[in-house]
Amino acid sequence: MSSPKTVRWGILATGGIAKTFTKDLLVDPQTRGVTHIKHTVVAAASSSSQSRAEQFLKETGCPASAKAYGSYEDFVKDPDIDIVYIATPHSHHYQNAMLALEAGKNVLCEKAFTVNAAQARELANKAREKNLFLMEAVWTRYFPLSVYVRELVTSGRIGPVARVLVDNSIASDPEAAFSDGKHRLVNPDLAGGALLDLGIYSLTWVFQTLYHTQDEKTRQPPKVLAALKHYGPTKAADEATTMILTFPRSEEAGGEAHAVATTSLRVATMPGGLKDVPGIRIQGPQGEIQVFGPAYRPERTRLVLKDGTVEEKEWPQPGPGKGSGWYNGFGGGKNAEGEGHGMFWEADEAATAVVEGRKEGKYEGLDESVLIMEVMDEVRRQGGLRYPEHIETTKYPTHV
Ligand SMILES: NC(=O)c1ccc[n+]([C@@H]2O[C@H](COP(=O)([O-])OP(=O)(O)OC[C@H]3O[C@@H](n4cnc5c(N)ncnc54)[C@H](OP(=O)(O)O)[C@@H]3O)[C@@H](O)[C@H]2O)c1
Repeated sequence: MSSPKTVRWGILATGGIAKTFTKDLLVDPQTRGVTHIKHTVVAAASSSSQSRAEQFLKETGCPASAKAYGSYEDFVKDPDIDIVYIATPHSHHYQNAMLALEAGKNVLCEKAFTVNAAQARELANKAREKNLFLMEAVWTRYFPLSVYVRELVTSGRIGPVARVLVDNSIASDPEAAFSDGKHRLVNPDLAGGALLDLGIYSLTWVFQTLYHTQDEKTRQPPKVLAALKHYGPTKAADEATTMILTFPRSEEAGGEAHAVATTSLRVATMPGGLKDVPGIRIQGPQGEIQVFGPAYRPERTRLVLKDGTVEEKEWPQPGPGKGSGWYNGFGGGKNAEGEGHGMFWEADEAATAVVEGRKEGKYEGLDESVLIMEVMDEVRRQGGLRYPEHIETTKYPTHV
């Protein structure tokens, strides 16, 4: 057996998800049965100061040799970085990803990929022109749970998918939780609102079961009908959005299929934290697949067939395990001792692609990321939500 190849990461930004991702990245891949690659962090950058980057490297347990940068521009020139992980607010992804691609770096960029489809297309073109790897970090697509659900869909056990219902809502009290209006969930200058932040996961489930599973040569974009509620205090972010999507399919493939994808900052997918509510239901004439837990980090599936068959599965995240004294989580949340967050699956895919010379993610290529951005553009158009020009622009560079 050949020895594992080590992929050298650079982390751009030092906020909440950058910390969670980096801690997961440094977990030994063998704890999840991955033996062909290893990850290391060689640099991190903060837009505010070098000392913040230093503190980030320390807090996340990166190797002492990793370099701290106080500027993204200097960081992308570091010759030791194989791939850059971008974890700034989505308002900044276009500028930051373009900076890294222009510097010749492979890129894994947080969701939502960009503010709009035009920006996503420009990034895809740049990556292709420079022959670099570029992937939207929709981590959920790379979970073993998602692989299993897509295989169930293509196995035909529930028949051709006729309808998908997905809710990703977080039950916050936005006026209280984000009272100064500066948080990225409500701030128009950071492309705030439910759709780009949370609705992307509702769309992820719709697309990975109703679009990605179809034949690449014949699948077609959906028609979209949207209802979008503006968030009162800032008026230029959405508090709640609901989308009805119609996917054309040939009669042999099951004919037209429907989806309802919804998201809200205010109401709950799982009221009172109740775990037995399937936020995701994938329905066919022979039965349905139910998925439990938040749409971005689900943990349980149930297959229910017309003949009475019920198959339940738990999908705990691997990690260093109990007794390790190691913890990860996001925001205020803390996972059980030794349990990973689940971000290493996408990191494994990105690193494997870099080692193999592939240029796109295997469970969501660039054309699909662009298409989903086109859907969100259309939803915002119907709902009358446009962000400030300096973050909608495809002009590069701008200093936002
Ligand atoms: N995959 C997931 O589960 C997940 C979860 C949460 C968020 N996200 C995505 O990750 C991205 C970041 O979210 P987050 O929760 O980590 O946000 P955050 O805690 O606010 O961190 C964002 C970081 O970006 C950098 N930054 C650069 N310019 C900025 C600006 N003008 N305003 C604010 N920050 C700026 C800052 O780090 P430096 O200045 O030090 O560089 C900051 O710490 C978003 O696109 C979000 O959608 C993904």
